[in-house]
Amino acid sequence: MSGEDSKIESMMQEKRLFAPPPAPADTVSAKSMAEYEEWYRQSMDDPEGFWAQRAEELIQWDKKWDQVLEADMVKPEVKWFKGGKLNVSVNCLDRHLANGRRNKAALIWQGEPEEDVRVYTYQMLHTEVCRMANVLKKMGVGKGDRVAVYLPMVPELAIILLACTRIGAIHSVVFAGFSAASLKSRMQDCEAKVLVTADAVLRAGKTIPLKPNADEALAECPSVQNCVVVKRGGNEINMQQGRDTWWHEAITADGITADCPPESMDAEDTMLILYTSGSTGKPKGVVHTTGGYLTYAAQTCRWVFDLKDDDVYWCTADIGWITGHSYILYGPLALGATSVMFEGVPSWPKPDRFWQICDKFKVNIFYTAPTVIRSLMREGTDWPNKHDLSSLRLLGSVGEPINPEAWMWYHEHIGKSRLPVVDTWWQTETGGIMISAMPYATPLKPGSATKPLPGIDAAVLREDGSEAAANEGGHLVIRRPWPGMLRGVFGDPERYKKTYFSRYEGIYDPEDGSRKDEDGYFWIMGRLDDVINVSGHRMGTAEIESALVAHKDVAEAAVVGAPHEVKGQTIYAYVSLKSGVNPSDELRAALRTHVRKEIGPIATPEFIQFADGLPKTRSGKIMRRILRKIAAGQTEEHDFGDTSTLADPSVVDTLVAGSKEFI
Ligand code: PRX
Repeated sequence: MSGEDSKIESMMQEKRLFAPPPAPADTVSAKSMAEYEEWYRQSMDDPEGFWAQRAEELIQWDKKWDQVLEADMVKPEVKWFKGGKLNVSVNCLDRHLANGRRNKAALIWQGEPEEDVRVYTYQMLHTEVCRMANVLKKMGVGKGDRVAVYLPMVPELAIILLACTRIGAIHSVVFAGFSAASLKSRMQDCEAKVLVTADAVLRAGKTIPLKPNADEALAECPSVQNCVVVKRGGNEINMQQGRDTWWHEAITADGITADCPPESMDAEDTMLILYTSGSTGKPKGVVHTTGGYLTYAAQTCRWVFDLKDDDVYWCTADIGWITGHSYILYGPLALGATSVMFEGVPSWPKPDRFWQICDKFKVNIFYTAPTVIRSLMREGTDWPNKHDLSSLRLLGSVGEPINPEAWMWYHEHIGKSRLPVVDTWWQTETGGIMISAMPYATPLKPGSATKPLPGIDAAVLREDGSEAAANEGGHLVIRRPWPGMLRGVFGDPERYKKTYFSRYEGIYDPEDGSRKDEDGYFWIMGRLDDVINVSGHRMGTAEIESALVAHKDVAEAAVVGAPHEVKGQTIYAYVSLKSGVNPSDELRAALRTHVRKEIGPIATPEFIQFADGLPKTRSGKIMRRILRKIAAGQTEEHDFGDTSTLADPSVVDTLVAGSKEFI
């Protein structure tokens, strides 16, 4: 049995049920399943009334909306809180200055070196954000302009995002692990006016230069007039006169004060763009708007993490991804919470870094990814057992399906069999968590994300649009709009409609497979499109293929995900070389380097199989199903299903023989 099949098998067999711990008296989440069900019912009976109440409770509006929802899911065009006005930075900062949280820690930043800790109170963060907003203004950035951000996990990353929201500029963060070419294409797509970057990234004890990537990208991004550089590594870098400024100089320059009146934004003004991989072509710029996104991030943070004033909350994601946007920054700060931000990696200097940080700051709520759990699980229980983890009261998981074995380890060894583990399903496009347990209400089944949050009309559909029976696999869909949903693909309304609303008219299609069991619990099975998920990082196979074929020796390439014990999936590439080019280990290494350069280290194929031919139908379409099976080691003839439409069925045998080298 392949890894993938055994994973699905173990999820199908999973029958354990864990009662939630008793709800603390002051919980801000549901106290019981009955309460959750009541909220859910209200949200379906009167969605507008339901969300209006949430938005009123959680958000400070400059002007209340005229209409809660105007939605046409067929067009599609969705507007929440129409006519409402607000400012995100006011909601995340200013209002806490007046409500008793002025001196409370907003961000606790742990740098990679143990001694590098910075704590920002709400007041301190407010000052830095206002100063930086004034720097942006001085550079000519105003409402609606795009600011690209390419930074490691340093506090300046949080500051610049909030500074953008203060003046109504749109931020677009590019994960610092992406290459110069990826940064360039994103900056070109959104026509960024300013780039904020750093001299280097500190990672696993090394100083990795970052500014050279920015320089390379900027050479072909004429829209970017200014580049602000954070000093982190202290390494020698090139600073281009007239274009580049050091952050620490810009923020303390003459005339830069901490007085920056906030721009009052329309609820539907674009707040941020975040690029994510799709099944075809280049990454899509997912657009989120101000009022809906903030309301949704804040509300889901309350429901899922039960965030309260006294809590120390730590989400281990990088702000380069949506998880960091919604659950390190905007959700927690809108609620006035204390959020931990960590620069390093789980395994350095030792595999107990995460547990040591939990102990150090007495973290109460911990949110991480299954890939992290699986990799730390392999290191054994001595590492967590060295630390006092008794402050923890809630554990979360995100990014990919969590297999029951990893769930159990997390529950037993980190949660000491006491703590709820909330598995949260969502996407860049959804803005916030969609399917998840409520920690003190929902009985947990290891491996299931459990039930949709209130307001989320999730279902599993068959190809023909009818609803799947209990336990029958199908397409996960969301049938009604929710405040955090994406409002578009930047600059490409056609792609927005085609990608998300074309399979079933008027219904949002996340491209994930799922089944719903007899208790209404969702079991997410993974992507149905050509997107793979490596360590929780989402990548389009088409992107990697186009990087490979851009190499001078490559004629054709097909990329699939292969099951991987720790990473969930790993990248497996089939490559046909141009005639006259000989396959070799050197060429393999060169292709890997090439992909790293084109996209970034996270896209590097683990396996590259040279192949004279790929399995194609007579009409020339590559049958990826077959390639996936081979990569998964499922190579018996019956594994392949119907291969009669292949132009040359013998290709399959050759590929199977070639794959033995890896599997
Ligand atoms: O396939 C699903 C998987 O990750 C995809 C979304 O990736 P991205 O936009 O990068 O956002 C990641 C963080 C929200 C989904 O389409 N995914 C995410 N969380 C889960 C998951 N699959 C199963 N269970 C989850 N909890």
